[in-house]
Amino acid sequence: MKRVRIVEVGPRDGLQNEKAPIPLAAKQAFVARLVASGLKDIEIGAFVRPDKVPQMAGSDELARSLPPAPGVTYWALVPNLKGAERAAAAGMKALAVFSAASETFSLKNANVSIADSLAGLKDVAAFSRKEGLKLRAYVSTCFVCPYEGPVAPAKVTEVAKALLDLGGPEMEISIGDTLGAATPDQMAGVFGPLLKLAPASTWAGHFHDTRRTALANVLAAMDLGISVFDASAGGLGGCPFAPGAAGNLATEALVARLDALGVDTDVDLNTLALAAPPLEPLLGHPLPGRHA
Ligand code: HMG
Ligand code: MG
Repeated sequence: MKRVRIVEVGPRDGLQNEKAPIPLAAKQAFVARLVASGLKDIEIGAFVRPDKVPQMAGSDELARSLPPAPGVTYWALVPNLKGAERAAAAGMKALAVFSAASETFSLKNANVSIADSLAGLKDVAAFSRKEGLKLRAYVSTCFVCPYEGPVAPAKVTEVAKALLDLGGPEMEISIGDTLGAATPDQMAGVFGPLLKLAPASTWAGHFHDTRRTALANVLAAMDLGISVFDASAGGLGGCPFAPGAAGNLATEALVARLDALGVDTDVDLNTLALAAPPLEPLLGHPLPGRHA
């Protein structure tokens, strides 16, 4: 594979699980450093209930303050139409929605059944079409659910198919190992049926790194033709509704490995390595995925 596109989720997935409130200026500077590293897709925040995920409460203000950057798409995570409207009002042009392959996770995460989440996302898809916004989707808990245990690949296919039906063929769907417990040998079982539904360019991988298998999962998914991966600078992250989940695959680790393989990413590793460390004193703990 010649090229991989990285979707940087540090400012959203990375920070959403952090207890210490990160000031707006620190988030702005973090996004600016990510842009400087060459990342072209950056999920900057979430337009969810502020009382549920307090760290994301300032996403409106952050979105309004972002300077346009040529070739860069800033993404906003939205759970429903209200979130989509808030994001659009703050100037966001690209929305990421989510559903799940596990019923209990969907209920704990977003207070909806899978069927109701998909029904609600129809409104978001219609809104994004009307407003000319880009749309991306996540399927969470595609391998293991923190509440239900192993998840059947057929359930992932079913939810992904429903998302494809509502988003259309140009929508990218990111396959989430929310808990960070998947292993490389599981990639073919989950991505195989998805590749029968739509071409490899439709699918992305979103692997948390709890058991340090995320990079191996990326390499296994690349062997299947997947070329878009989500990652989080400094390895920050986790989901407040997935107890035990660690951060995403560190973007630095992903870029270092891809550089070594001669795969293009647009990202300059030395510049990227400077992006997350300034957050460390504000977080009150070391970055999980520091790049030396
Ligand atoms: P709900 O309480 O079921 O919503 O929340 P509701 O429709 O019943 O409305 C209740 C109140 O919430 C109303 O306000 C709504 O206006 C308000 P009231 O009339 O009572 O004053 N409300 C909102 N306010 C602001 N923004 C909104 C919004 N929607 C409703 N968008 C909801 C449902 C999903 C909003 C809530 O449960 C929530 O915010 N949950 C947090 C979800 C979240 O952020 N999870 C983490 C991100 S997902 C993730 O990390 C996984 C991922 O990384 C992939 C992976 O790793 O697998 C993407
Ligand atoms: Mg995640």
